[in-house]
Amino acid sequence: MKILIEKTERSREMPPIAELGFGKYFSDHMFLMDYIGEEGWHSPRIVPFQPFSFDPSSLVLHYGQSIFEGLKAYRWKDGSINLFRVMDHVDRFVRSAERLVIPEFDRELVLNAIHTLLDVDRRWVPDEEGTALYIRPTLIATENMLGVRPSNEYRMFIITSPVGAYYACGMAPTRILVEEKYSRVPEGGTGGAKTAGNYAASLKASAEAKRLGYNQVLWLDAKEHRFIEEVGTMNVFFVIDGVLITPPLGGTILDGVTRRSVLELARDWGVEIQERRITIDEIAEAHIAGELQEAFGSGTAAVISQIGMLGWRGKDIEINERPDSLRQRFYEEITGIQYGRIEDRHGWVTTVPNAQAYTSSNGHHTAVPDETTGTA
Ligand code: COI
Repeated sequence: MKILIEKTERSREMPPIAELGFGKYFSDHMFLMDYIGEEGWHSPRIVPFQPFSFDPSSLVLHYGQSIFEGLKAYRWKDGSINLFRVMDHVDRFVRSAERLVIPEFDRELVLNAIHTLLDVDRRWVPDEEGTALYIRPTLIATENMLGVRPSNEYRMFIITSPVGAYYACGMAPTRILVEEKYSRVPEGGTGGAKTAGNYAASLKASAEAKRLGYNQVLWLDAKEHRFIEEVGTMNVFFVIDGVLITPPLGGTILDGVTRRSVLELARDWGVEIQERRITIDEIAEAHIAGELQEAFGSGTAAVISQIGMLGWRGKDIEINERPDSLRQRFYEEITGIQYGRIEDRHGWVTTVPNAQAYTSSNGHHTAVPDETTGTA
């Protein structure tokens, strides 16, 4: 399928880097593609960034059949634009769709859509270390009706946003509240999928945590409220007595791409890893014994984020990592690879190709196949 390109006639200014924050500004264009039962996926296109107009009965507005992804593009010193583990994100988008009963789509087409959109909006990729263009592929149910069943119509869209640090505190250590009352998802739920409902369900707990002066919550398992799951927008890691420990994937936590990268690097470096269930009591005991050396979160938006404090049962567990921490090493290595400062031995980074040509038809432009994807 060819991607039609309609360019905006009103390009906007990129805001100053210091004002970027996270997800506040959007680039000039977006990608759209629609699905309707008999026809399947059709009309992939890039159009000027603009509001949608939907019928109030659109299914997504009522039952939340919706999925998304989050990945980043980095501008290197040579001016090239590079994506980190893009196919891992596209694959997870496919798995989330499967879990939410959303019809299958072509992975290569999504990759080509990301490439083409980034190529059109190249100037929106900021060029300072610590900044990136955040890419948000999203897919929503658009059929107009109120019955509870999978929609027969969908819209996929990809928007992009120039971003700086995710947390308002920047790279400073975060304060995380252990959540014992509310749960994120139960076993068998949608915890492994990136679906809007998981985040909606987290809002009350994070609002209460923020009111108490914390940045986010640490979720415990929904059944016993003992086993650590993940932080609001990150997977979580602990270093206890030199061992890197993280909760295992099992359907209740997100299969994070940064999580995977941390584990692969730790394996390369010969760090002892335990992917296992760990209780909050064990963390507190390790802290009392002086063995809790580090805690950090990993995520596309948050990168590798130091956890400086865990609030639990009215007390704060302070975690003072050493200057030569594993967390710092993961941060340096991952961001070094992302920004092209460190050799990418894993083949995680791919460069956004320059469009080889655009053919004009009816005032539109059409992306032609490129060597990387063979589709357009
Ligand atoms: C990401 O890290 O990309 C996420 O999806 C977190 C987001 C909900 C802000």
